[in-house]
Amino acid sequence: MILDGKAVSEKRLELLKEQIEESGLYPRLATIIVGEDPASKLYVRMKHRACERVGIGSIAIELPEDASTKQVLEAVRRLNNDPDINGILVQLPLPPQVETGSVINAIAPEKDVDGFHPCNLGRLLAGDPIFAPCTPQGIMTILEEYRIPIQGQQAVVVGRSIDVGRPMAILLLNADATVTICHSKTRDLEDEMRGADILVSAVGRLGFVRPDMVKAGATVIDVGINYDEEGKLHGDVDFEAVRERAGAITPVPGGVGPMTIAMLMENTFRAARLAACYNNTVL
Ligand code: GUN
Repeated sequence: MILDGKAVSEKRLELLKEQIEESGLYPRLATIIVGEDPASKLYVRMKHRACERVGIGSIAIELPEDASTKQVLEAVRRLNNDPDINGILVQLPLPPQVETGSVINAIAPEKDVDGFHPCNLGRLLAGDPIFAPCTPQGIMTILEEYRIPIQGQQAVVVGRSIDVGRPMAILLLNADATVTICHSKTRDLEDEMRGADILVSAVGRLGFVRPDMVKAGATVIDVGINYDEEGKLHGDVDFEAVRERAGAITPVPGGVGPMTIAMLMENTFRAARLAACYNNTVL
């Protein structure tokens, strides 16, 4: 079975558009991008396009490649204090002179629609998340939409990043999976992977997952974004070979990627609903 993230994302965005309309709210997202990286610019453009489609207002703040940490922090603080802005997204990676941790920590947790602030990661760890990071939340949504059992299943997450691997493992744990987190120092990595009922690869290496590392019938989730010499996009998984062995698999493109943006839109609407509650205006 091919897990069609594009189709699930379309369905969620349509539903969200209706919910936003019914709410009478006008959620607003602000993005901050530093520099001219073409991939980052493309991602940010896609996020603004999704906003427009579902009825979320958006503003884009563009800072120069040589911006200092202080300049980025000032932009974040302005948005924190702007009551018209519900969600703040700082596009990563930031240039090396900007302290990424300081910037993430400066975002008001109630506007942190990426879910990267330690308060939001802590709530996730406590099993009571408000904003979970969008990519792993998107993966959970795909698993739910396709009714893939999670409870009691062996889930193996390869990769331990703050934006994908770690929150993915916690979301799966919160859904009662038995979770193993693997990384570059893991002994017997392939044996661990072969034990997975649900295998999530967030490594960033083309051809990393081969069929001999996959249990027959397993669900394989590919979070990789890798470009070959011709500029063609691939995931971490050798898709054509692994699909023969897996029970269910996400393609790249059209799998996890579109879900990330849909979850960002859902988180922004949640931020707007929360703000409305605090202000005692609606809901
Ligand atoms: N860069 C790549 N993915 C992401 C994401 O989900 N959020 C942000 N802020 N930056 C990214």
